[in-house]
This record gives sequence, structure tokens and C-alpha cells, in this order.
Amino acid sequence: MNSQSVPIELQERSYGIAIGSALFDDPHSYAQLPGASHVLIVTNTTVAPLYAKRLERALHSKFAAIHTVVLPDGEEYKTWQTLNQIFDALLGNHCDRKTIVFALGGGVVGDMAGFAAASYMRGVPFVQVPTTLLAQVDSSVGGKTGINHPLGKNMIGAFYQPLKVVCDLETLKTLPSRELSAGLAEVIKYGPIADLDFFQWLERNIDALLAREPLALAYAVRRCCEIKAWVVAQDEREAGLRAILNFGHTFGHAIEAGLGYGEWLHGEAVGCGMVMAMKLSHRLGLVDAAYVQRVTVLIEKAGLPVLGPCLATSDNAGRYLELMQIDKKAQDGEIRFVLIDGTGRAFVRAAPEALVREVIDAGCLRL
Ligand code: NAD
Ligand code: GLY
Repeated sequence: MNSQSVPIELQERSYGIAIGSALFDDPHSYAQLPGASHVLIVTNTTVAPLYAKRLERALHSKFAAIHTVVLPDGEEYKTWQTLNQIFDALLGNHCDRKTIVFALGGGVVGDMAGFAAASYMRGVPFVQVPTTLLAQVDSSVGGKTGINHPLGKNMIGAFYQPLKVVCDLETLKTLPSRELSAGLAEVIKYGPIADLDFFQWLERNIDALLAREPLALAYAVRRCCEIKAWVVAQDEREAGLRAILNFGHTFGHAIEAGLGYGEWLHGEAVGCGMVMAMKLSHRLGLVDAAYVQRVTVLIEKAGLPVLGPCLATSDNAGRYLELMQIDKKAQDGEIRFVLIDGTGRAFVRAAPEALVREVIDAGCLRL
């Protein structure tokens, strides 16, 4: 399989996403990067034994000093304390302003390494080497970086673009099945919000994706990156359009925060959140029941939950509403949702609380 490149057009911050096989440990992938005396690879305890040495070797031909910091693995570690371990490694190794930070791992590592790069000495360059499906189709692209706060997901961070993204599809071979399914949630979201042909392609090819067929994965990663590139190029800092990429995330973030980070995977919460957002769109008369059913079936086939967890024994919907108040899309205390209109378009708007309560009451597991 040849490698492909998807451009992200952002004037002086433009960069390419390389997609293919045998890329991350090939020195050619990094030949165009600026020179630097130091590089810091940020990874975690699961990914380091699999891939860190190979990345270190690939970087040795170009960079003199290669340091690696290995973080604890898990969404529950996407915190200030873990972020500080990256700063400790940068300072402890006397990394200067030209130091390039490499994020080797999934979205948690990518978001934290990117935020560290954005703030260390007020900004050093960084490169994303995503190793989960979710990170390859979404989190490594577009420059959102950050950490969680106990009160809200991804509430502290920065927009900071990488110099390059290297998506090596071969790294997906070691990904646990549950993580592959979680990544498929972010793949599926691109259909209803932007490309109904892609949605139909996913309905036909979901089994091939679950079987990790290389051509199916390559097409899905490329198409998702193209759609994300198209959105980000128009609205880098989420003044409007970019919020559509949060389809399912308002409900999903409430699930993650409500259960405690790491209990459900981010992609699982988003998958279930998309079903809730579809049902809300239906109750608002924007889509028919048949379309809600098709999206639900696809999400279920991808191995994702379609019913939300119960977050409180009394007034479960009230608990969801309380958690959803802490959302970056909320305005003047009003919760706003990404809704779908059935023509491959999405938009952000508020919804009557009674309807949202109905969706939650009908869409959650009972205790
Ligand atoms: P993750 O980073 O926790 O990775 C999932 C698991 O897979 C981890 O245990 C990890 O160690 C392991 N892993 C990674 N690569 C592996 C490989 N090749 N083989 C075996 N195991 C591997 O989770 P994720 O789903 O990649 O990312 C979720 C995070 O991304 C969330 O924090 C979410 O908020 C964030 N996110 C950010 C954006 C953005 O635009 N910045 C977009 C979507 C999601
Ligand atoms: N994953 C949402 C965004 O990048 O905007």
C-alpha cells in the first residue's frame, strides 16, 4: 500500500497527514522536519514497549539527543499531575526552544503532549504519531490539545497545530478490539455530519473495518482526515462550524465525567451519545425514525453501547443535564447540541429541556 498525504490548509500553520504502512519507524517520514539538538518522545506504559525503541531508532539519524518520557496509561491520567511529568522531562533534559515533542500513542498521549508543547517555553514544535484508530481519524488532526478537570472533560488546553501527523496503519494491528470499536465511533460520526456517501460506505464495510482489512482501514482513515481537514481549514478555533465534530459529545462527555474518566472509553461514550443526539434530532422533527435506526444499528455493529449508563438513582436525566452544563458549546448557561438534519449536515442549537429529558429517560439503562 502506498502512503498518501492529506493536507491541512492553515496558512503558515499548514501541514500534512501521512497515511500508510511502515511509516512511523522510517527516517524518511521525519526528513523534512527542522533540525533540533533534542527531541522528546511522549508515550505511555502500553505503547512504549511496542513502539518507542523503533521510533527512537528512526529519529537517531537526524537528531543528536533523544529523550523518552513514559506516562501512566489511561484517561484518568489526563491530568495536571501527568502533564507535569512531561515538563519535568523537558526541563530535566535541558530541552531548548527548538526541541521537537513527539506524541507516540493514542488521543490521551497526543492531547497531553500537544498541550505540553504549546506551553513549554511558550511553544515548541511537535509531531503527532497516532497509534489508535481514534487518534488517527480525529485527535491527532486539527490542533486541539489539553487535559481533563474533575468537573469537565478537556476543559483546559490550547489550540496548537503539529508540524506533521504520521498515521501508520500497521500500529493498529496491536490495538485491543475494544479500542478499535471506540475509534469506530469517531469514524462513524463523519457520515451523518458531513458525508452521507461515506455513511453508506460504512454500512457496507463495517465488517471489513472490524476485521482490520488494510484497504478498508486506509480508506476510512483517509476519508475521515479529509473531512476533518475541510472543517478545520474553515474554522480552526471553533468559532462555529468546527463544533459539528462534537456530534454525540455533549451526551458523551456527561457519561465520561459522570461515571469517572476511564470507566467507559471516550469512543464508547461518543457512540452512545450519537444515538442520543439522533433521537433528539428525531424528536425535533429533523430526521425520520428510519435514519435514527440505521445510525443506531451501525453503532451497535461497531461494538459500541447504544444505551447510556444510569448516572443517578433519582433524577438520572437531571444528573445528565447538570453535567452537560459544563460543556464548551454551552452559552449563557444554555446547553447546545450538535443535531443532524438528514442531508449530511449538522448544526448546533439548544433544545427544550423536556425533550432532552425524554431522550435520556428512554435512552439509558435502568438500575
Ligand atoms: P487512549 O489514548 O487512551 O488509547 C487507548 C488505549 O490504547 C490506551 O490504553 C493506549 O495505551 C492503547 N494503545 C494506543 N495505541 C496502541 C497500539 N497501537 N496498540 C495497543 N495499544 C495501544 O485513547 P484514544 O481513544 O486514542 O483517545 C481518546 C482521547 O482522545 C480522549 O481523551 C479524548 O478526549 C481525546 N480526543 C481528542 C480529540 C482532539 O481533537 N484533540 C478528538 C477526539 C478525542
Ligand atoms: N474532535 C473535535 C475537534 O477536533 O474539533
